[in-house]
Amino acid sequence: MNFKNEHEILLVGEGDFSFSHSVAKKLGSARKMTATSLDSREELKKMYGDAQQNLEQLARMGCLLLHGMDATTMSAREELRDRRFDRIVFNNPRVRTVGLDHDKKQIKENSKLMEEFFENASGLLSPGGEVYVSMKTCAPYNEWKVVRQAAKSGLFLADKCEFKISEFPGYTNRKGRGKSCNKTFPLDSCCTFVFKHLLYL
Ligand SMILES: C[S@@+](CC[C@H](N)C(=O)[O-])C[C@H]1O[C@@H](n2cnc3c(N)ncnc32)[C@H](O)[C@@H]1O
Repeated sequence: MNFKNEHEILLVGEGDFSFSHSVAKKLGSARKMTATSLDSREELKKMYGDAQQNLEQLARMGCLLLHGMDATTMSAREELRDRRFDRIVFNNPRVRTVGLDHDKKQIKENSKLMEEFFENASGLLSPGGEVYVSMKTCAPYNEWKVVRQAAKSGLFLADKCEFKISEFPGYTNRKGRGKSCNKTFPLDSCCTFVFKHLLYL
């Protein structure tokens, strides 16, 4: 993942905001960052032990923090609709409905989440911008067919590389739902998919 200080960066589906905080620390500023979560501020405080601290530090570094931000409808949100981003990031996407990742219903819902996220991200991307999705690539996650979902919105796979969590000190990936929302999970076979828009080739 390539982040620069001049990039307008949008992060969606954040858990405890430790990833956004890690990127901000790397850049030395968060003035061009917009970090968002589906969960409300109150929910985040209840779900994650570290959310409050990460949010406070991000705010101090100039980050715009938005909550209740649904990645499947975000391009219509007033705070985003007239803006364009050089980087749009969704780490470890997973629908909030409780169920086993292997269940057919869950696979269908996650595929739909990705399809609708890409549709929205495509409308918010700057010319030459990149969408980063980091996720496990083993079964059943490969059944989401993220490359196919992205193509429906004109986004093509420009690169795919191993996601190395050690490159993001302080980041802890969270389960993000149910009683174990604050727990982490193994990131074996995790890759970053880099998408670009066909329009800007
Ligand atoms: C497995 S957790 C990962 C959390 C965080 N990205 C991380 O890597 O630690 C999945 C995240 O996807 C978010 N999510 C699910 N559906 C979403 C949607 N429609 N819009 C935005 N975020 C969503 C959940 O709220 C949760 O934070």
